[in-house]
Amino acid sequence: WPFHAPLVHAINRLKKERNAVILAHNYQAPEIFHTVADIVGDSLLLARKAAETDAEVIVLAGVHFMAETAKILSPEKTVLMPAMDAGCSLADSITAADVRLLRERYPGVPIATYVNTSAAVKAESDVCITSGNAVEVINSLPGDEVLCIPDEYLAKWVATQTTKKVIAWKGHCEVHERFTGDQLKAYRTQFKGDITIIAHPECPPDVLAEADFVGSTAKMQDYVEGQQPKRVLLITECSMADNLAATNPAVEFVRPCNLCPHMRRITLSNILESLVTMQPEVHVDPAVAGRARLAVERMLAVGR
Ligand code: 13P
Ligand code: SF4
Repeated sequence: WPFHAPLVHAINRLKKERNAVILAHNYQAPEIFHTVADIVGDSLLLARKAAETDAEVIVLAGVHFMAETAKILSPEKTVLMPAMDAGCSLADSITAADVRLLRERYPGVPIATYVNTSAAVKAESDVCITSGNAVEVINSLPGDEVLCIPDEYLAKWVATQTTKKVIAWKGHCEVHERFTGDQLKAYRTQFKGDITIIAHPECPPDVLAEADFVGSTAKMQDYVEGQQPKRVLLITECSMADNLAATNPAVEFVRPCNLCPHMRRITLSNILESLVTMQPEVHVDPAVAGRARLAVERMLAVGR
């Protein structure tokens, strides 16, 4: 059985010495999320906090694109990524050259790019979106058409929430694409309908059609904390329910869930190692970062 206390103690002590903050995504395991993280949240909140923090060092307990986003917004800070191989199937689904081709193919159509992408892809985009603000940001853009890339299912869900014509790409999240509508129907039958189904918009349309509520991880949290449903199926990464279960004892969380192998690459051990060695550090080419920052800042300006 893992014994976490010595690692938690050493990390929290080193954070003070280094003037570091740990930003943890909602999909981080409870032994990170509830012990060493200073700021926890969805991709949108982590981007906002990365831009605001006074700390000199940011440790990103999440995946690589989140660390890049922090570096883009805070180029003067040291951004540490405890596991450089913590990638994302969505970020891997599109390149900067693909975005340039899309711009040629759809001249004048704004390109709204999910934050789950590389800095180079953001640099070719007009604005970024997260699952927490996609509809709001897309509705703020000029024209009747928008390219919403690279998550096909997020784009299809946005299309149901806006009057604009939404043009999608073919990327998928390897965690959320595995859920099926039939799986959800079977759970409704098993619990005789006495269950609330909450799904992430990265899920396929047949899954979202079965859900009672669709939203980003922060919106899922708000729903659970506000509504206190008796029994919940969180159609997303497993740690989401683990973390919410700790603070919502009246809510019963039911499987299924899927693990994100990339999020799981972050551990207390490699967080400590990164604070000891101040490595691995995330670097983004300043020219790319400058253009990517415009897209991220345009997103952050919406709703302010
Ligand atoms: P949000 O936390 O923004 O909903 O994103 C989910 C996700 O898959 C991040 O990798
Ligand atoms: Fe990427 Fe999906 Fe993992 Fe999020 S859960 S990091 S979108 S693969």
